[in-house]
Amino acid sequence: ISLKKYNTFGIEAKAKYFCEIKSVSDLRAALTLDGYPDLFILGGGSNMLITQDLNYLVLYINIKGITTVWEDEDHICIAVNAGENWHGLVLWTLKHNYGGLENLSLIPGNSGTAPIQNIGAYGVELKDTFVSCKAIEIATQKLHQFSKDDCKFGYRESFFKNEGKGKYIITSIQLKLTKRNHRKHMDYGAIASELDKQGIIDPSIQDISNAVVAIRQSKLPNPEELGNSGSFFKNPVLNTKDFQSFISNHPEAPFYKVSETEFKVPAGWLIEKSGFKGKRYGDAGIHKNQALVLVNYGNATGTEIMVMAEHIMATVYKNFKIVINPEVNIIK
Ligand code: EPU
Repeated sequence: ISLKKYNTFGIEAKAKYFCEIKSVSDLRAALTLDGYPDLFILGGGSNMLITQDLNYLVLYINIKGITTVWEDEDHICIAVNAGENWHGLVLWTLKHNYGGLENLSLIPGNSGTAPIQNIGAYGVELKDTFVSCKAIEIATQKLHQFSKDDCKFGYRESFFKNEGKGKYIITSIQLKLTKRNHRKHMDYGAIASELDKQGIIDPSIQDISNAVVAIRQSKLPNPEELGNSGSFFKNPVLNTKDFQSFISNHPEAPFYKVSETEFKVPAGWLIEKSGFKGKRYGDAGIHKNQALVLVNYGNATGTEIMVMAEHIMATVYKNFKIVINPEVNIIK
């Protein structure tokens, strides 16, 4: 079966076997099937670049449902099954006036894959509301619970991208949200200026979500119109010595201090300054409004996008002596 509509890059590739999973028991059954090749776990398909046909059994995790675990006057803890679309979940929380996810509006992908790279945007990360998740261990089909500490979250990082890679399938996540006295995060410059533009002084969580949606729509391509996987690269984090030498050569560069000894530099800026913004190589290209996003104009292959990405990485290194690494999973 074709995977084109199952990956937001819109790459044409075929899966040898494909199985839609709608419950934990479906999943256990699929994991004990005999005589199939290796597994490939597919969620929202929003953070992957497929470079060839998949000679695997693809398990498409589509378990739905949102339930309340507990609530008091101030907070609610919800359990969200892995197949719930992330932005759909954000809209559901806003409808109920539950706070915590508004800055994470319009992020593509599903709830079950959100912990893998600790999705984050506009000053908030998944880990800020995350309580725990449940995951099936592939080798034993046992259901394990992972606390926030177990998940070892970092910037676009978690246990599931490192030690746990390829060993577990997340089936649900639990989040703790506010019912009142919402903690609003508006420190990110773009949010403040968007709210200002709209003349909003004391924003509701819905206003913040609207501002984030407006910012994202102005910068980031909609995968339904133009294939993409959001930020293709991670923003590099430099140590003091490397940062000093970079910033003295490029005093105009934007940066963000992560800690006393770590400085994050926007990869989008490095790529734009290397002359790539808006460039196109056949059907593969670099988005015109956000150089961190690589796009598929229609029929690009995964390999074409990968070759373009490698060229960008090599050029950024040549120009700035900074290594940038992909954020998306490249499936070879
Ligand atoms: N910039 C440029 N040129 C560009 C892009 C960015 O000069 O083409 C500069 C901007 O002017 C700004 C700085 O880089 O000074 C930061 O840009 P922006 O606010 O757009 O954020 P980002 O660092 O490029 C990160 C995340 C995004 C997230 C935004 C907002 C990563 C890899 N990306 O992008 O996440 O939405 O911050 O928080 O950390 C994603 O992961 O898919 C994603 C979209």
